[in-house]
Amino acid sequence: MTAQILDGNALAQELRESFQSRVAVLTAKGHRPGLVVILVGEDPASQVYVRNKVNACEKVGLYSEKITYDKDVNPQVVLDKIAELNADPKVHGILVQLPLPKHFDEEAVLEAISAEKDVDGFHAENVGALAQGNPRFIPCTPYGVMKMFEKGGVDLTGKEAVVVGRSNIVGKPMGLLLTNAGATVTICHSKTKDLLFHTSRADIVVAAVGRPRMITGDMIKPGAVVIDVGINRLPDGKLCGDVDFDSCKEVASLITPVPGGVGPMTITMLLANTIEAAERKAA
Ligand code: GUN
Repeated sequence: MTAQILDGNALAQELRESFQSRVAVLTAKGHRPGLVVILVGEDPASQVYVRNKVNACEKVGLYSEKITYDKDVNPQVVLDKIAELNADPKVHGILVQLPLPKHFDEEAVLEAISAEKDVDGFHAENVGALAQGNPRFIPCTPYGVMKMFEKGGVDLTGKEAVVVGRSNIVGKPMGLLLTNAGATVTICHSKTKDLLFHTSRADIVVAAVGRPRMITGDMIKPGAVVIDVGINRLPDGKLCGDVDFDSCKEVASLITPVPGGVGPMTITMLLANTIEAAERKAA
């Protein structure tokens, strides 16, 4: 079997086009959606992600602003800025790029963002709403993955889903979304004793561990759906996912590539959440 490839660029493009009319309606009513992205420090990967987020906003007509701080900034300065943005009516979404430098209390920063402007969906209130099956903001990467299932015609009801990775950004919310959608979910991670046992019986595998090509074709059940959330840079500068694409595509029925798979969907769902936040404000 050779898997069908799910093109994240095409789906992202399709969704972004559908956003333009919503942005136009909001803008005409004086509620142009606005996103502020805060970046602390000079992590090269974070710099690229933040630049891509701001550029994507501009392309669909959102107001966007990037605020950068030196890596040694006093965390209180960032907390004060968040308080100011929470009160600013032209700002509908606030995103603090993670990871933050070690001297920051990451949780305190995320909790300082107003839950109504938490377009990342990382605030405890929003995590709780998602856990209760009543989400307000869905974290962008797992949200993008759900859109890919929809596009690929994947019915999740009753399926065995294995998520590899238990991060707050991807693994845990992915597990909640799959559970809410009716899948039977197993979350595997670095302490899992027998990863092969789990992946080889899964109808759906979502890899989000940050280890290049660790999920190989012999770990996958024939016909499984394989979603690759990983973005790893190899010593030669090339990007690769957590999934060994070449061997898995021979076994899976549906697979996402890297680059051009989940990556473009993450930013797209950030735009979706920001527009949604503005629509709620305008209602
Ligand atoms: N760092 C890696 N992924 C993300 C994300 O989705 N949001 C934020 N804020 N930081 C990240």
